Amino acid sequence: MERIKVLTVFGTRPEAIKMAPVLKTLSQSEVFEPMLAVTAQHREMMDQVLDIFRLKADYDLGIMKPGQSLTDIMVRALTGLEGVISDFNPRLLLVHGDTATTFAGALAAYYHKIDIGHVEAGLRTRDKFQPFPEEMNRHLTGVLADHHFAPTEQAAKNLLEEGVPGDRIKITGNTTIDALLEVTSRPHEFNCTELQGIDFASGPVILMTAHRRENWGKPLENICKGVLRLVDEIPGLQVIYPVHANPLLRETVYPLLGKHSRIHLVEPLDYMDFAHLMACSTVILTDSGGLQEEAPALDKPVLVMREKTERPEGLEAGTVRLVGTDGEKIFSEVRELLENEKLYREMASAKNPFGDGKAAQRICKYLEVFYLCT
Ligand code: UD1
Ligand code: UDP
Repeated sequence: MERIKVLTVFGTRPEAIKMAPVLKTLSQSEVFEPMLAVTAQHREMMDQVLDIFRLKADYDLGIMKPGQSLTDIMVRALTGLEGVISDFNPRLLLVHGDTATTFAGALAAYYHKIDIGHVEAGLRTRDKFQPFPEEMNRHLTGVLADHHFAPTEQAAKNLLEEGVPGDRIKITGNTTIDALLEVTSRPHEFNCTELQGIDFASGPVILMTAHRRENWGKPLENICKGVLRLVDEIPGLQVIYPVHANPLLRETVYPLLGKHSRIHLVEPLDYMDFAHLMACSTVILTDSGGLQEEAPALDKPVLVMREKTERPEGLEAGTVRLVGTDGEKIFSEVRELLENEKLYREMASAKNPFGDGKAAQRICKYLEVFYLCT
């Protein structure tokens, strides 16, 4: 039997992490001939992930430019993918999530009348500017997709409400849990020298990340002020903040947080370091999407610096709280969590609603059955 050609397209760090388990499973299937095209919307941050999972791109569009606009990414990704699709001629194109690369990949496939599989489909806030532009990237990709891999029942329900046929939706769990369980099962010592020097037993440790477009500028300044107050008022508290490579963020973060001895600003960490660092931390403070899913799998409470989340399952399960971007509120919410043992225990022990580590297998099985029968 001739194998079915499947092209996976991604471009950023989180997409690479979450598609690595899918690529591995596809490569073990006898039904598919998988290939990987990266837009490299992220360069170093995505390459770190390719190294950890020993992935090699078959096509690399290398589109990243410093300070790229949304239009830059779309135009360059769409143009590049046209050549890739003409060369490989896949039957199915897989994308993940909600980035500009995701939408560009889906649109490129649509223009070539190729089937589209959307991994991590159906998450919604129903507010087109929160998160921006991810809410619309995910929604528009869903409008074009033929196969929808919903991580949770809620995500599947969102798709059904939009008229997606039920037999094209598969509830799979989130592939990020597959990736996380795999890397945390590997023994590891920190690669980052700054992490090697931190005494994790000397007091609580907050692991912080912030990169969302909605938080650029003033909100990020407020976040930094809240964090400064935390280290000033809580003796022994340490904050570890791997700062996203975006220069726009760095301009805000380094002048405000760069000089405090208990705030450790480090370069983006490779996923092995980061996953193991999550496991050693007391609290996760973040505006990231992926961390809301991963931290509960490691029994870590997550405070989310956003007004809305497209992952309400974490709120319902009690693993996550929304704290917004007001510095005073961040200060009081973190302090409460560190001082109130009962609250901490409840959040840390709440059940992770995002998956069991078998999402990639479910995706691959569904696709095998579908393409063997059509
Ligand atoms: C992108 C995604 C966002 C996702 C995030 C994950 C879009 C519109 N945004 O946002 O949904 O949550 O990735 O991190 O798709 N840079 C580097 N090296 C890197 C990566 C980035 O130097 O390896 C710098 C570049 O100057 C680049 C800038 O960061 O221009 C912004 O990158 P971009 O992908 O446009 O936006 P993110 O904020 O990373
Ligand atoms: N991550 C990482 N190194 C870091 C920060 C994050 O490997 O220094 C991982 C993290 O574990 C998660 C993903 O990157 O899997 C989240 O990426 P990001 O916050 O950039 O994007 P988002 O999840 O918001 O889309």
